[in-house]
Parts: sequence; structure tokens; C-alpha cells
Amino acid sequence: MRFMDERMPHPFSGTIQSFLLILALSACFTAASDWQAKVEQLERNYVKMKEHFESKIVDLETKVSRLEAKVKKQDSIVAVLKKGHKPFTDNVDINRHRRHNATLRTCHEIHAANPSYASGMYWIDPDGQGIGDPPIHVHCDMVAKKNSRMKVIAEEIQPGTTSILHDSESEMDIGHCVEPGCYSRPIKYYASERQMAALIQLSNSCAQNITYNCRNSPLNYDGITYAWWNDKDGERHQFADWLTSCDQLSGKKHAVNDGVKDGRLPFTRVHFSNPFKGSGQHIVGRMRCSGKAKVEAMPTSCQDLWRMGHTLNAIYSVRGAKRMENVFCQFDKRPNEQGFQKWIGYVDVKSRPTYFHVQKNRTFYSENVAIPFEVEKVNVGNAMDLKTGIFTAPRDGLYFFSFTGLASAKPSKGTVFAAVGLFLNAVQVGEAWVHEADISVNHDSPLTLQSTLTLKAQDRVWLQITSLGDTGFLYDDANGYNHFNGFMLDEEITRSL
Ligand SMILES: *[C@@H]1O[C@H](CO)[C@@H](O)[C@H](O)[C@H]1NC(C)=O
Ligand SMILES: *[C@@H]1O[C@H](CO)[C@@H](O)[C@H](O)[C@H]1NC(C)=O
Ligand SMILES: *[C@@H]1O[C@H](CO)[C@@H](O)[C@H](O)[C@H]1NC(C)=O
Repeated sequence: MRFMDERMPHPFSGTIQSFLLILALSACFTAASDWQAKVEQLERNYVKMKEHFESKIVDLETKVSRLEAKVKKQDSIVAVLKKGHKPFTDNVDINRHRRHNATLRTCHEIHAANPSYASGMYWIDPDGQGIGDPPIHVHCDMVAKKNSRMKVIAEEIQPGTTSILHDSESEMDIGHCVEPGCYSRPIKYYASERQMAALIQLSNSCAQNITYNCRNSPLNYDGITYAWWNDKDGERHQFADWLTSCDQLSGKKHAVNDGVKDGRLPFTRVHFSNPFKGSGQHIVGRMRCSGKAKVEAMPTSCQDLWRMGHTLNAIYSVRGAKRMENVFCQFDKRPNEQGFQKWIGYVDVKSRPTYFHVQKNRTFYSENVAIPFEVEKVNVGNAMDLKTGIFTAPRDGLYFFSFTGLASAKPSKGTVFAAVGLFLNAVQVGEAWVHEADISVNHDSPLTLQSTLTLKAQDRVWLQITSLGDTGFLYDDANGYNHFNGFMLDEEITRSL
């Protein structure tokens, strides 16, 4: 109550004094004993009043100090808000406090994380937590809204829409300069260019519009362009065609509205001019981004990985055209910056490991049927069916096969003759051939064949005797002289993923 005592008379003191005066005057006309009693009564009343007023004063003092605390708190909130609305470069101290906390990258993500969050200002970090630029303070619309105030663009705001604030949101007058584009206003955003680019990449779509109230102030007139805007790269663009109603130089003030989507956003500068002594005011909307960019179920690049939320620089596997590939992703660079993705090489994928080595342990004569095998040395993946002698490719890919056989001459015949073909789906793709005449008895000759084939899943490969004449056969016993080997070199992933 300091200020009450010092700066103004006590509001109750006047009342008390006049009250006492009246009592004293009336006492003069009363008997002495009466007077005595009245004074005592008066004193008691005075004490009561004093106590009453004192307790009131204590009450008031408490209230004032509470109010003072509230004002202080609100002052600090105002200060924080003011700072929050400065460009991001001046915004370091507030980011120092929050920058480590902004883990989500868009309002869409915040909304998805908890749909009950209210619309308002939030910190987000589109280019990834802990890398790139510090988080940005943005407005999130968390409930669906229909914004049809302007008939031209009936805009629907989806829940989880991110709006980037800037320093030119209010209606601004273009003044009276007459040269084309002479009024030039840069738009400063409360988010870095990198963060905005990241937000656009993460979003399904972004839009920003501009409203222009014109009275006798054209955008284009008589072949001269008086107004335009610059995109994120500073490139100049004309306003859309339907804004031409301003170009009819109507003396009546009216508003036009232009919306721009994605790629070229945000507006970095607007230019107007007022060549005919009219008037013009612009309102630049916020850049608004909604939804989530689609990412293939399988990432095919560092950019996909980044969209999915990866921010740690590391080597990752991604889906290439036919094979898995290893790439080094440097997420502290921008997606279109040199070195963001470095290709390392192919990743060996074996979704069905396939290796076989089979042998015969008995002599074989039959022509034009698949050669069966009896002994299984290795048959990883069971793609080789020994009984039928047919290999079935389990996956698309590149396969290697080799055959070594032993051709013998029948006793008393002076010739070894044998031909074994390699067949792919009933088409012969190779042949092992031996023909030796004028030989001595018990003569044996080797047959060999190698092949590398690109196969589709379910393609079938086998060996068969294509010709023996009447002199030869494939000799074998428990030692195993006839070998068939095969394995998958490389698996193709396109059809299986
Ligand atoms: C991070 O967020 C939590 C919960 O909102 C808060 O309690 C904490 O103080 C924040 N930390 C920083 C560094 O801002
Ligand atoms: C477009 O302009 C209208 C009218 O000024 C505004 O209500 C709306 O929010 C703007 N949209 C965007 C994306 O800025
Ligand atoms: C050949 O191998 C099969 C399977 O291992 C075996 O059952 C059979 O006895 C073998 N025959 C000869 C002649 O060794």
C-alpha cells in the first residue's frame, strides 16, 4: 500500500474526521456524564473501524502484489512473443532453450502424434533434429477449417497444417511511385530457407497466396508489367491471368487474390507500382503446408530415408533398379546438395540361397530325358530335384552351371561318342561333346560344359544325352564321375519386392 500513503490522502481519513467533528459538536450541548459515556462509545467505535480498515488494507495489499506478479509474467510472455517473431537469425537465445526439444518435423507429424493438440504456435524441425538449422516456431492448424472468405480460392485447411509466419502479413500500402515494380518489399520469414525447403519436401502440398486491393492501380497495362513477385530463387513471376480485373483501371477499390503451389515457394519479394495515381494494398498470406509426401514402401534413396525420418549420417541399404544398393547418406547436407548421397555398391541379397552339387553313382544310357542324379553333395535351397534331374530357379537372377561327365566306349567298339546338352525350359542352350575314333579297349573321355544364365523364377534347367550313337554311355560307380554344379550368382529384387 506504499503508493496509497505517499501519493494520495487516505480515502477513509476525511470521512473519519468529519464524523468525529459532528460527534464533538453534539457533545457540547450534552451533560458532562453523557459526554463522558459518548466519548467512550466513540473510542470503541473508532477502534472497531480502525481494525476493519486495517484488515481491508491487508486484503488490498495482497491483491495488488498478486496483480503485480501477473503483470510481470505477462510482460515476460510479451517479450518472448516479440522475440519469437523476429527473423530466425535473431532468434538464437529462444532456440537455445527449445532447439533440443523440437523432435517433430511438421505440424502434420505433431497432429498425427496426438490429434487432441490445439491449434497454436509450435516448434518444429523440418530438416531434422540435431542437424541443419535450428528449429522454427510455426503456427499449426490442428482442426479442419474452410476458408472461403475469398471466392477465388476456396481454401480448405486440413488438420495438421503448418503455417510459416513472416514480417509482411498485415495489409501494406504500395504508396505512389510510378515506375514498373518500383514498390518492392522483401518478405522475411521466421524460418530459414533450408527449413522451408525441407518442409515443402516433407509435405504433400504447400501453398501461399497474395491478395491485392487495387483502385486504379494495374498489374499489367498497355503491354507494361507493373507488378510481379520473386520466387525462392529470386526468379521473377507475373501474377496469374485472372488478376486482370485490376488492369481495367476501375476507380472502385476491389481485391484480387493469387495462389501459388509448391516448387517456387515461398514468395521472397513483391513488386507493385502506382502509375495512375490510384491506390493499392497487398496482403501476403503465410506459406501453408499440409499432408505428408508419399514415400515408396521401400526407400530408393537417401532422400526417401530422410523423408521417413532418418537423420543420422551413415551407410544405408536402398532399393536399386534390380539390386539392393549401399549408399552413404549425409543428412546434414541438403537433399540436392553434392555429397548428400554417395553410392557405394551393390548389396548381395540371397532371399533363397541356392547352391547344388550332385553326382551320379551308376551308369546311364537313356537319350532325350533329363539325367537324374543319385548322390547329393550339396543342395542348399533344394532347387535341384535329383530324381527328375531338373533344377528350378527359385528367384529371378544370374545363375552359373557346370557339368563334368565321363563318356565310355562299349567293349569291342573302337569309338567313343557322346553328346550331353544343357536345356533351359526345353530349349538347348549348350552342349558337351566328345568323339574319338580308333581307340583301344576301356577308353574313357571327359565331357565338360559351363554356362552362366539369366533366369526368371520358375525357369527349369537340366542335362540330357542328345546323342550316343551305338557306341557310348555315361560311365559311373560309387566314385562319382559325373558332376552337376550350379548356384545363384546374383539375385534380382524387382519382382520379389
Ligand atoms: C522439453 O519439453 C519438455 C516437455 O514439454 C519440458 O518439460 C522441457 O523443459 C523442455 N526442455 C527444453 C530444453 O526446452
Ligand atoms: C489466401 O488468402 C486468403 C485471403 O487473404 C486467406 O484467408 C488465406 O488464408 C490465404 N491462404 C494462404 C495459403 O495463405
Ligand atoms: C547310389 O546312391 C544312392 C543314394 O545315395 C544309394 O541308395 C545307392 O545304393 C547307390 N548305388 C550305388 C550303386 O552305389
